[in-house]
Amino acid sequence: MAKVIAVFGATGLQGGGVANALLEDSDFKVRVVTRSASSDKAKALQERGAEVVEASFDDPGSLERALQGAHGTFVMTQYAIERPDFYQLEIKQGKAVADAAKAAGVQHVVFSSLDAVQKTMGFPCLLYDSKAHVEEYMKSIGLPVTIVKYPLYYESYLSLRLVKKLKDETYKIGYAIEGAAIHGVSVTDMGFALREIFKNKDEWLGRTVGFSGDKLTIQQHADILSKHLAPNLFKPTKMTVDEFSNLPFQGAKHFGDMFKFWRLGNPDHDAELTRQLYPGTRSFDQWVQDNKGALLSAMANKM
Ligand SMILES: NC(=O)c1ccc[n+]([C@@H]2O[C@H](COP(=O)([O-])OP(=O)(O)OC[C@H]3O[C@@H](n4cnc5c(N)ncnc54)[C@H](OP(=O)(O)O)[C@@H]3O)[C@@H](O)[C@H]2O)c1
Repeated sequence: MAKVIAVFGATGLQGGGVANALLEDSDFKVRVVTRSASSDKAKALQERGAEVVEASFDDPGSLERALQGAHGTFVMTQYAIERPDFYQLEIKQGKAVADAAKAAGVQHVVFSSLDAVQKTMGFPCLLYDSKAHVEEYMKSIGLPVTIVKYPLYYESYLSLRLVKKLKDETYKIGYAIEGAAIHGVSVTDMGFALREIFKNKDEWLGRTVGFSGDKLTIQQHADILSKHLAPNLFKPTKMTVDEFSNLPFQGAKHFGDMFKFWRLGNPDHDAELTRQLYPGTRSFDQWVQDNKGALLSAMANKM
């Protein structure tokens, strides 16, 4: 009988990749967990055969109902960077999902975590530390977990967030990590990696995999984007972490802390293990080639 997997964030990027891959496999029945069953994305998933249930991280009762009868669950959490208490809130929400999974007797929880920066580096990165905290809690209450860690998604380039369009119609990539190489991956590809983890629960329980398609500098990202889209179209910023942290937008400091970790730390990602899980994991070069049309239309719409 097909196993029910409740997918949090299925209407978003990470969970969307997971739902997509599971929907293609008759071993699984996908349960989409969303705050709004009537959204276009939820309805599209329902049309592809998913069950859709409404629940919110902020409503523990709804989480327990959403997880009733599920064999497994993919859990991601989202930061509400506009709120001053976003760090505490993400921890509270993650713990609420953990408690609900425990109460519902879910047999395999795959949690999307990130490195414990404060603990290992001695400086905070609240966007990461919140998830590491939830991971620790999940383990402390004895949940049957597998930990996955996503690096920068290639799909981030489709929203061109932190990418500035200049007056001369070229683009500056705003990641303040000049010289440092960072891991990246496609969330679509990692949906298939996640499917392998759910298929091989006994092999993966208690383990961690940090996903990676490749490790490149932002100059290399810019060169690859320019190669496929137009010569010299993209350039990396030369901004320092401190300059970035002082930019006048909500959360700049926390993204600055993340760049500091990317520069100074050694984020836990492994391209070899990722390809063992899913041999179809693409490099950034391959992904840009496959997404040329979508990138061009994102650029055309960028103000
Ligand atoms: N961007 C990157 O490169 C990157 C890399 C690694 C990790 N991350 C992490 O990824 C996380 C974001 O994931 P994403 O990019 O997949 O997000 P996303 O595309 O913005 O989607 C967010 C998802 O979260 C769900 N959600 C939000 N609030 C909820 C709530 N209160 N209750 C239930 N569901 C809720 C939304 O579902 P509904 O709206 O349908 O309810 C939606 O499906 C962040 O924590 C970030 O730190 C990002």
